[in-house]
Amino acid sequence: MPDITPHDLESVLRDWDGEASVARFDRESGAWIFIALHSTVLGPAVGGTRMRVYPTPADGLRDAQRLGESMTLKWATLEQPVGGGKAVLALPGPLDAEARRGLLRRYGGLVESLRGAFGTGEDLGTTPEDMALLATVTRYVHGVEGGHVTDPGPFTARGVRRGIEAAVRSVLGRDDLGGVTVLVQGVGDVGYPLARELADLGARLLVSDVDAGRIERAVTTLGATAVLPEEAWDAPCDVFAPCAIGGVLSASTIPRLQCRIVAGSANAQLETADDEARLAERGIVYVPDYVVNAGGAYAFALLGRGERDEARLLEHMDYIGEIVDAVLAESKSQGSSPLAAAGQRVSRALARGR
Ligand code: PHE
Repeated sequence: MPDITPHDLESVLRDWDGEASVARFDRESGAWIFIALHSTVLGPAVGGTRMRVYPTPADGLRDAQRLGESMTLKWATLEQPVGGGKAVLALPGPLDAEARRGLLRRYGGLVESLRGAFGTGEDLGTTPEDMALLATVTRYVHGVEGGHVTDPGPFTARGVRRGIEAAVRSVLGRDDLGGVTVLVQGVGDVGYPLARELADLGARLLVSDVDAGRIERAVTTLGATAVLPEEAWDAPCDVFAPCAIGGVLSASTIPRLQCRIVAGSANAQLETADDEARLAERGIVYVPDYVVNAGGAYAFALLGRGERDEARLLEHMDYIGEIVDAVLAESKSQGSSPLAAAGQRVSRALARGR
């Protein structure tokens, strides 16, 4: 869990600065449905739907809120007229296929009843099939068009690759990834396509994952070197790319990192606000998660405007590299952290929207 302090639903609802938290208990499945609407300053809220088992409902709500805020920052970074929100389907335990479909249908009904205040798409724990099902119940699903479902993973991955290239240029002074060592933590929907691109570019690839099958795939098809999940923190590398769960950069992991750059697709990578300074003290350049991982969101924005061609959509992900370039340049010239520089970009965009 991202947070270490235990909390209850009441305090989680009270202590948030977002606009509203929607909650519904789904009696049939025992799951909680949370939709955290963080900010509609730039437009109606759009963010993915995450489904996973949480120790308590409050942990699920807290996750939705943090991720909803990340979406506000992401859309503002992209300068898109979209607000930030996120949905979490907090399961008490694993669901069978039938129960899962039932939950998704009822969740879709809730989204539809919000009449566009929240739009959604795929995220950790949900699949293209889930999105296709949701789209039969609500209009407010992104990436589903006439039976075709767009997986945001490869677009997010292309954006992260562009961001890594920009960071490697800025920090290591190198124009290509040949021989650059990248550790990809989590080789799933985003981490795997990212690892494949990095391998094609001649990077030295280290991979870790809690799922043995995913490791096997990366090792056999990409020639990656496997690192045990618990040893990922200590592995010497140029770039550490968190592409699994959030909260991985913490007081306990940062002192162990042996990298120069952190840039990956996971949302909410810093466990606490202090972790950014911890990284800086160690001389590690942290590329803000919501900047480098914005490719999936950007792809949905372009799809919404009628861009259907996959190759062209992938080319559009160059924009993520340009933003990372600009953020790192601003951070260098101001002597501020990349997170502070990115925050200024967000503030400028939000001020224009107000
Ligand atoms: N879940 C991805 C993200 O966090 C992609 C996504 C973006 C999904 C926007 C839905 C809406 O960026």
